Amino acid sequence: MNSTFLDACNKKEPAHTPVWFMRQAGRYLPSYRAVKGNRPVTELAKDPALASQIVVDAVRALDVDAGIIFADIMLPLEGMGVQFRIEENVGPIVTNPVRTLDDVNALEALSPEEDVGYIFDGIEATLQKLDDSVPLIGFSGAPFTLAGYMIEGRPSRDLEKTKQMMYREPETWHRLMSALTKMITTYLASQVSHGVDAVQLFDSWVGCLSPSDYDRYVSEYTAEIMRSLEAKVPRIHFCANSASLLGKFVDAGPDVLSVDWRVQIADAWATAGGRAGIQGNLDPVLALAGGEAMRREVGNILEQSKGRRGHVFSLGHGVLRETEPENLREIVKTVHETTTRRA
Ligand code: CP3
Repeated sequence: MNSTFLDACNKKEPAHTPVWFMRQAGRYLPSYRAVKGNRPVTELAKDPALASQIVVDAVRALDVDAGIIFADIMLPLEGMGVQFRIEENVGPIVTNPVRTLDDVNALEALSPEEDVGYIFDGIEATLQKLDDSVPLIGFSGAPFTLAGYMIEGRPSRDLEKTKQMMYREPETWHRLMSALTKMITTYLASQVSHGVDAVQLFDSWVGCLSPSDYDRYVSEYTAEIMRSLEAKVPRIHFCANSASLLGKFVDAGPDVLSVDWRVQIADAWATAGGRAGIQGNLDPVLALAGGEAMRREVGNILEQSKGRRGHVFSLGHGVLRETEPENLREIVKTVHETTTRRA
């Protein structure tokens, strides 16, 4: 097995800096568009044969050092009684938003094998197709980001309803966060028992909180999820737009913190202070633009990460739809060639 990704997560010196991309299996890739046709992403994720093929096609097309299961952060919420659809170019739309204490109390507990058994079948099919070539990353949405979709009912920039529940009804809020934390720890533990080699917690929207609100309303839940997987598999915490929160995320105990391009990766290394590796952090628009600007920034990121244990090269967020796969292949090749340690 190409162990560079797990070596980096475990702070061992890898043969080269590993690379993978969020949404590496997505619409920018012709093989994905061919499989997808006009079916919704949720339907693909519920078909283990298709889902596993999508993962492996992307790994082979790009020569990346890890695959990520083909799923969506919204799927396990169905098991809690949340109804949604994913609208193209918009995102998740929840048709029964969670707004009151009664709504929270009505949420069901996730029964992993019953509710999302297709995810675990997909993991097993994917592992078989990968045949020990590269590790497989599992994932879940983080409690704040999932709560955001459940409360708002649709993607939102300021998460006004979510934050109002936090401020006005802290008891309802904490009940919801506890229920989500329980779901996430169960869900991730099941992914691990079915064989994923690492997990990533996607907290895409947490950057809208102030540091003191993060402490008061969120940090204990992130820490609990991280603790639940301690010494089992490497844990990556993904955030965006969160420069002022990075130290708090490191305190929660992930093995690797995934940061976006709005921070200098040198500053992220300084904040982590050897306690966590860093994943990132090329701007997805640079991967889209390609050319000299892209090459320059790939070089900068590698230069600022030189000699650091635990660098996983990635974009700061998901691959954009119009990206040329060739640009991603060039990034992978450059990172591998620049960082290969000669025996
Ligand atoms: O290779 C991979 O990363 C694929 C697996 C994956 C998907 N969603 C499949 C998907 C992962 C890791 C996710 C996570 C996810 N889903 C997040 C966290 C990461 C982030 O982007 O911040 C979030 C917030 C969601 C919710 C969601 N699902 C959004 C915002 C969208 C985009 C809607 C659009 O059309 O632009 C989706 C749909 C989705 N999930 C797509 C994929 C490949 C694209 C649509 C499609 O292929 O039909």
